[in-house]
Amino acid sequence: VDNLTIRPQYLSEYIGQEMIKKRLSLAINAAKLRNEALDHVLLVGPPGLGKTTLAHIISNEMGTNIHVTSGPILEKQGDVAAILTNLEFGDILFIDEIHRMNKSVEEILYTAMEDFQIDIMIGKGPSARSIRIDLQPFTLVGATTRSGLLSSPLRNRFGLIMELDFYSEKELKIILERAASILNVEINEDAAYLLARRSRGTPRIALRLLRRVRDMSTVSEQKLIDINMVEEIMKLLGIDENGLDEMDRKILKTIIEVYNGGPVGLKSLAASVGIAEDSISEVYEPYLLQSGFLARTPRGRVATTKAYKQLGYGNVGGLFDE
Ligand code: ADE
Repeated sequence: VDNLTIRPQYLSEYIGQEMIKKRLSLAINAAKLRNEALDHVLLVGPPGLGKTTLAHIISNEMGTNIHVTSGPILEKQGDVAAILTNLEFGDILFIDEIHRMNKSVEEILYTAMEDFQIDIMIGKGPSARSIRIDLQPFTLVGATTRSGLLSSPLRNRFGLIMELDFYSEKELKIILERAASILNVEINEDAAYLLARRSRGTPRIALRLLRRVRDMSTVSEQKLIDINMVEEIMKLLGIDENGLDEMDRKILKTIIEVYNGGPVGLKSLAASVGIAEDSISEVYEPYLLQSGFLARTPRGRVATTKAYKQLGYGNVGGLFDE
């Protein structure tokens, strides 16, 4: 069983993101009744929350083909033109990491999105000219981690902008139980809840952890996954009660120990931790912010009291209330 079969294929199988499902369902039903291509959709949110899954669901619900690509892959105008001219009526063009396209590629998308036409330059020098190509009406589905990373002309051309939220523990538990039955593993309710609690609100992480406990269940020949097995795996993987891993803790520790708790700028923090700025701002930081371990101020990132407590720093100078 691979990842694709675990992924829900239709909106009705998709757990969580209730408002997004309602808005999508309305837009999809209306487009189908009018026999039109669905309006362009921008999916925004941290990695692992289901943006790619939703893009595939949109194509399944519309009953059209999906073409998958990503911002960094599209290097030249010709790359996009080749894809755009191959699209059939109503097809979905999914561009992951759409904020990482270069300017010239982005510009060709403007007219493609707005008028279903592109102008491409052929030739060089005095004999160069531009030719116009008509496209079939299509739907661009873009995915990005933060909508602020897109230029406003691009962002404004999306009719539907959807911001995905982190999942609740209850939603993650249901996702885990659904996946467990597809993977043919038995997990009791307490164990599913515990896994959910350690998954940072993120289905991709929950499913990865489930695979690791399943390994343990296979090897130990204990069929039913229980709390003990989950606890053991968490220790092995270095994941704490809040689902923070080594890198999350290293980031918080660096702010506390090297920068006296902050504020510290992203650049300095990334250099001290030894990872890319993007990884901090797009991958690690969103959950640390939302769960209250980190705060952002105009002058930089600061570690919160909750972070000090979680990492076991003593109540130095009466910093905490208790
Ligand atoms: N698998 C991963 N994400 C899911 C979701 N939101 N609903 C159902 N199954 C999933």
